[in-house]
Amino acid sequence: MKIKRSKVASAEFFSKIGYSTCWEDPLVLKRALAVSAQDNVLSITSGGDLSIGFLLDDPLCVVSIDLNVIQNFLLELKLACFRKLEYSEMLSFLGVHPCNDRLHLFKKLERCLTLSARTYWSQHRTLIKNGVLLQGTQDRYFFHFGKLLRIFLGSKKVEALLKHKALFTQKRFFDQVWNSRRWRLIFNFFFCRTIMSRYMDPSHFRLVQELRFGPLIRKQADHVLRNLPIWKNYFVHWVLTKSYPSEDCMPPYLQKNNFDIIRRRVDRITIVNEEIESFLDRCECNTFSKFNLSNIFDWVEDDSFIALLYEISKKACPNARLSYYNLLNHRVAPDTLTAFKRKKDFASKLLQQNRAMGYTNLELYEINPIQ
Ligand SMILES: C[S@@+](CC[C@H](N)C(=O)[O-])C[C@H]1O[C@@H](n2cnc3c(N)ncnc32)[C@H](O)[C@@H]1O
Repeated sequence: MKIKRSKVASAEFFSKIGYSTCWEDPLVLKRALAVSAQDNVLSITSGGDLSIGFLLDDPLCVVSIDLNVIQNFLLELKLACFRKLEYSEMLSFLGVHPCNDRLHLFKKLERCLTLSARTYWSQHRTLIKNGVLLQGTQDRYFFHFGKLLRIFLGSKKVEALLKHKALFTQKRFFDQVWNSRRWRLIFNFFFCRTIMSRYMDPSHFRLVQELRFGPLIRKQADHVLRNLPIWKNYFVHWVLTKSYPSEDCMPPYLQKNNFDIIRRRVDRITIVNEEIESFLDRCECNTFSKFNLSNIFDWVEDDSFIALLYEISKKACPNARLSYYNLLNHRVAPDTLTAFKRKKDFASKLLQQNRAMGYTNLELYEINPIQ
């Protein structure tokens, strides 16, 4: 089967930071992939959070791949923070805490970066000055949504949503106050095909058949806001406050307790600037035991999806696992690919626990490679 090049790779979207944070839930992926000390992980970089977070499970190595070299420059920068900064300096540098001194902190990091990453960040100092975590296109899109909610629903209501510590009061608040016609209108408007394509990139949605994105995405968002505790949901806080409320309510890679563990293991990450299509083609059989592929299959045609799965099955170790999300374009391995054993019920259960708003599908497979 011939693997084709990614069709989205040439989009203008990939000439800047698309994602400064990852919008996939590390707790869900921990349960799905169960990374452990014997694993070699292949992970899509995106914001870098998940690739770094896998180090907490003590794998042999994490290969973090992205076709957008800038995402990998961001990962390099985040890894450099672990190498050269103290914990509180890292939070200040990245943009979690306010800081007037980020360019000074950058000086400490420069020498840990590859020449191309150093050149990029030296030419994009404003991104650093303003806190890199706040700069991704998708993150800024979400912040606009948070702002819109404050304008049209009121800041008081937004703050009230974030405060409920008991789930039954949160549910009551959602049912009686939050889930209004206005909420539904704002959501459907902001997450419609036109606005999403304009803000993100039309190529991301070209294969989606559905015309009305809003109601589909809102169904999962409503589930998160109603049924999962919001006061400790860092994804919701990020959208609504552009920040995290405490050191416990952050992505695991940013939590204080995890800082030293990650610092000791940063060298286990290898960064690959390439499309996964060509990278897998070059890999030996039996290379990876865990695959975290974000939602990259949303963006590829059926034949490329199948060709990629076939290639994964050749390069996977026995009993490997593959996990990926879908936003709107559900991708399921066909029965003809017998190497893939679908864990449908478990994946559906995990999707219900997913704290990041938006994804309408999660897939999990056990892979037994083709001999
Ligand atoms: C698919 S996007 C989705 C990001 C996700 N929604 C999030 O918030 O983290 C994640 C990353 O995958 C990368 N990507 C997409 N297709 C790829 C491919 N074929 N090979 C390598 N990287 C790819 C993109 O450049 C992007 O940085």
